[in-house]
This record gives sequence, C-alpha cells and structure tokens, in this order.
Amino acid sequence: MNMKQLEPGSRLVVASHNPGKVWEIKELIAPYGFDAVSAGDLNLAEPEETETTFDGNARLKALAAAGSGLPALADDSGLEIDALDGAPGVYSARWAGPGKDFALAMQRVHDALAEKGAWDGLPPRANFISVLCLAWPTGEHRLFEGRVYGTLRWPPRGGNGFGYDPIFVPDGETRTFGEMEPAAKYAISHRTRAFDAFKRDCLEHVPRTAATGKGGRDLEALDAAARNLSTEAELAKFITHLRDDLARNGTTWSARDLASFLAALESAAASADVPDAEPRWRTLARLLLAASR
Ligand code: IMP
Repeated sequence: MNMKQLEPGSRLVVASHNPGKVWEIKELIAPYGFDAVSAGDLNLAEPEETETTFDGNARLKALAAAGSGLPALADDSGLEIDALDGAPGVYSARWAGPGKDFALAMQRVHDALAEKGAWDGLPPRANFISVLCLAWPTGEHRLFEGRVYGTLRWPPRGGNGFGYDPIFVPDGETRTFGEMEPAAKYAISHRTRAFDAFKRDCLEHVPRTAATGKGGRDLEALDAAARNLSTEAELAKFITHLRDDLARNGTTWSARDLASFLAALESAAASADVPDAEPRWRTLARLLLAASR
C-alpha cells in the first residue's frame, strides 16, 4: 500500500498527555526535523482509553489528535507479566491509581505475583510493549509495534526512567531500567523498537538533520522527570539532574544562591497546587524545579 508520507519540517502532534512519553517521542523525532507539539499544548481533550488492546487504544488516541488537522503520533504501552496472564497490560497506567503513583503500582505487581508464589523460583518473566499509531486527519493510519523482554525484580532499584522501570531487568542486563542511563534504555526500549518500525516505513525518505546540541536548560526534560517520579530513589536521581543543570546552566537560574533559592522554594510551596493523590516525592521535585526557574 502506498502510505501518505510525512514531509520534512511537518508539524506533528504527539498525542499524549504524559510528559515523560511526550519528551521521549520528541527526542526520537527531533533528528528528522519534525516540529512536534503535544496534545496538551494544543489543549486537545484526552480521550478515554476504552479499548482492550494496545492497538485499539493507540489508534483511538491518534485519530482523536488528528482531528486537530495535523498528522498525529500516539503510543499505547504497558507492562505484560506472563504469570499474571499479561496483566497489568493495557491497564498499566491505571494500576497506579488517580495519583499516578508507581510505587503503589509496583507494590500491586509484587503482591499479585506473591499471591501466585511467582517470586519463589526464577525471576518472573515480563515484557514492555509499545504500539505506535500514525494517523492523518483523513482517518488513514498505520500501526507499529515494539517489545522488550526481561524479568522482574523486587525490591525496586534505581531512580531513572518512570513507571515500572525500577522492577524491570531487560534480558542480557543485570541492571533494572531504573538503574540504566536513559541512553542505554532508549537503545533497546520497546518504544525505540516501535519507532524503528515507524522509521523504516515512514521516514526513510526524510534526511536526518545534524544533531543540534540544545543550548541552555532542558526544562522540558526536567519537568517531564519531575512529573513522572514516584519514589524516593527517583527523587534522589532527579536532584542529581538538577545539580548537573546548576553546574552547567546555573547562570540562567533565577535563584542563584542558597538564600534566594530558599525564598523561591518558600513561595513555590506557599502557592503550590498539590493534587490529593500526588506522590509526595513528586510534589517535592516539582517545587524544587519551580524554585529554580
Ligand atoms: P499509556 O500508554 O499512557 O496508556 O500507559 C502506559 C503505562 O505503561 C505507563 O503509565 C507506565 O506505567 C507503563 N510503561 C510504559 N512504558 C514504560 C516504560 O518505558 N517504563 C516503565 N513503564 C512504562
């Protein structure tokens, strides 16, 4: 079939409201010169994920965002655990509850596996899966799938990444995704593999632009990290990123010494809007970032 092509410089909607995923997808498509805008930036409503398959939900989200008049790229992803018959699967995000608390979701995974005695022998097998859907305003769309296989560990380890990363060890590795540097995770991740399939089909004709080092603060990455973390290990890692940022870009921080940083933290805390169910480590990370801006 002759698929409509994306032209270099096209504007693309990343159909997600999850800042961690939007950031990852933007990073993946940036070298092709696409101008990516998130569904959140366009104030598009977040459709309810009513389908029971990854394909179905990815399609539903991409078609909804393509209603904006721009081609849209959506991803639906999750963790499938063999001993739980594929759960949490399409419900991976929902296992974290309204506060998107993945410390809670990982505990639920642990407990469900403990109930089945699945921690007793070899580590339980699992895979992450990502399905990407590229949809056009005309309704035309294509699906691409990627998986990464591995095993689960308890207790969670590492403060990188997001979601279930701290309990997942990809095959051939000893570290969890939460312990691996982001670049090492992206090199093998389910999303990268789905994206590779997308690239093979849709981007071969698009020349890669030279990687441009982003000058200044990568506030989008810091914001995505702050808004996704759930555990104290992830907060500690976030603080490491913030310190690196201070070392590199401290002259652009609005609060440059401890007294002004604490004053900024005080006013961020006083005016903080803290959703009831938000994990407290995430609240702290958000406030620290706000104080640095
Ligand atoms: P959705 O694709 O937004 O419906 O949700 C996917 C959910 O799967 C996320 O909220 C995470 O819980 C989980 N997930 C997907 N990809 C990853 C990953 O790379 N690391 C850890 N968890 C992931």
